[in-house]
Amino acid sequence: MAVEKKSSRGAKGPPPKGKAKSSSKSSSQSSGSGTLIAVAVLGVLVAGVVYAHQAGHLNSYVEALQQGSAPSQKSPIDAVKDEIKNADAEFQQAETEKDAKTPPTKDAASKPAKKVNPEEDKAADDKKKQEGDAAKKAKKQGSAPSQKSPIDAVKDEIKNADAEFQQAETEKDAKTPPTKDAASKPAKKVNPEEDKAADDKKKQEGDAAKKAKKQKKPVRILQASIGAKEADYEIRQEIRAADRLHTKKKYQEALTEFRRLLKGNPKCIRCKYGEGAALHELADKQRSNKLVQEAIAAYKETCTWSGGRRSVRVAGCLAMSGRMSFMGQSRQSVKLLDTVLADLSEDVKILEEIGLQCLISAMNKKAKSALTRLLELDPENGFGLGHLGFVYKLELRYEEAVPLMFAGLRGNDDRSREPRFYYHLGDALQRLNRSDEAYEVYSQGADSGNFNSMYQRSTYNAPNLKAQPWWTPEETPYAADIKRIEKHWKTIRDEGLAVMNLNQGGFDKEEENLRKEGDWGQFTLFQQGHVLEDNCRKVPKTCKIMKSIKDAAGCKRGQVKYSVMQPGTVVWPHCGPTNCRLRFHLGLVVPDDVHIRCGNDTRTWYEGKTIVFDDSFEHEVWHHGKSFRMVFIMDFWHPDLTQRQKEELSPI
Ligand code: LMR
Ligand code: MN
Repeated sequence: MAVEKKSSRGAKGPPPKGKAKSSSKSSSQSSGSGTLIAVAVLGVLVAGVVYAHQAGHLNSYVEALQQGSAPSQKSPIDAVKDEIKNADAEFQQAETEKDAKTPPTKDAASKPAKKVNPEEDKAADDKKKQEGDAAKKAKKQGSAPSQKSPIDAVKDEIKNADAEFQQAETEKDAKTPPTKDAASKPAKKVNPEEDKAADDKKKQEGDAAKKAKKQKKPVRILQASIGAKEADYEIRQEIRAADRLHTKKKYQEALTEFRRLLKGNPKCIRCKYGEGAALHELADKQRSNKLVQEAIAAYKETCTWSGGRRSVRVAGCLAMSGRMSFMGQSRQSVKLLDTVLADLSEDVKILEEIGLQCLISAMNKKAKSALTRLLELDPENGFGLGHLGFVYKLELRYEEAVPLMFAGLRGNDDRSREPRFYYHLGDALQRLNRSDEAYEVYSQGADSGNFNSMYQRSTYNAPNLKAQPWWTPEETPYAADIKRIEKHWKTIRDEGLAVMNLNQGGFDKEEENLRKEGDWGQFTLFQQGHVLEDNCRKVPKTCKIMKSIKDAAGCKRGQVKYSVMQPGTVVWPHCGPTNCRLRFHLGLVVPDDVHIRCGNDTRTWYEGKTIVFDDSFEHEVWHHGKSFRMVFIMDFWHPDLTQRQKEELSPI
């Protein structure tokens, strides 16, 4: 299977340098990789921004196998290990609680609780420091939204959350994005060689840092944590023995053993959890949907165990929810977490999980209330800070989003440091006219290995693909195809115009919130490697030509579509989600004064001619002309991908 990396090495080509353009804006790459989502990745379109990227919604191992597996950032095994690790931490905590119940020694009792000084923490970490500096700088520049700490800001937010949410909803309905003159200033030019060297170095450092980070966290397999005075305690030796089987990856034997223990000790919650964990591993190993359902059932029993120890119940709930999410059942999971768990509904871990699953299933309002409550209970919660910021970003409330997302990056939870958080924080900053800070964030995103480079910010990447913003057809293996397509450009144009004229509904409005202003419609013929037959019937000759061109029609990480922009349209700078495609634009109707910038270069279209760019690099479009512009967009697989990769990469 093709290995998919969140980002690969630094860009080979000359990226634009310096703060690219001061025009404040940017946009929504539908970013993101699932956190607990191992295979199922749900497309969640909210205000045009996707939390987990649409990727064909793989519901099961079977589908995953058929489709060549998904953009899993985490293997099912890793996911379960994470859960086990979490569970483990919970168990540790339980042990501590248990210890606390035994009369403390004088010494222990007099020991002051460990104080956490966030300032010290900050100073200790270089990266955090940089981010702190950025925030300070922002304050100095007077561009920081307020003098308040993010936490205070959140507290205020909590007060006003409902009212403001209503307002946001209304604004969204009104669909009147703020208007600002999008003057197109040329980006600063740099020496590409120097830049490349610097990029490579940064990248290497980033990779090393990432590796070190990973190695710091050894995965610990289930450790027996057994509640005193509970059914578990009586059989602690047996539980530990069954755990050892699990640790040795003898999952079938562990399962049998936990089930045997449960027979004799029906109140042993720890045994039920052990059963779930063994089933979970077996499901992954055998790629069996039936087993994963059984694992979910066992975890659910753990989660809802009457009289069971809280920490084990929480671990069961989290594991249950993680598996349900994996199966594309985020909504159902939220429902369960919500209704079944009256007494756990204020648990910080449960609130995090509800927030996450709500985001995955586009229940943003509910996500917001869970995350808000979470921060009331635990104001320093890094997950809560970053994710609540993300929700504000989805609501296009950039001023509120920025300090929270900054705090998330500085915080104590890696899940708020996933690539999408760098992407959307920078995006919000760009849209607030704070480009300097945006590029600091992007640069940190690149340094930490989350982006290929600060200008190429796709997050679904294959490693080692040639990376440059602009290409010529001759630099690709598709030059002959393009010649053939160009020969028929008038046919393609006329069929597109007919759809435009006869059927206003044929074109869909751009919905990813990429428009700063104006009107931009698309009419899609191929998507994720599939033909849209209904649309193709309206442009039969065009589709016939394209059907014969497999690297475009079959490009699972792209589309073939008409794109029409009306005068006055301005598109925020943005990056596409993947580096696995090159975007070909055939000019069909091209008035004066319409421009596209990708990387450092600004170009325009010519009727009957094709331009090629890599849309994983930052690009933007502005149309200051007098009549509509129509282009035909064809995404082709990146020429460096192998046949096997083309077959196995998940659709986007
Ligand atoms: C984009 O993909 O962002 C634009 O280039 C599309 C277009 O129609 O110009
Ligand atoms: Mn684009």
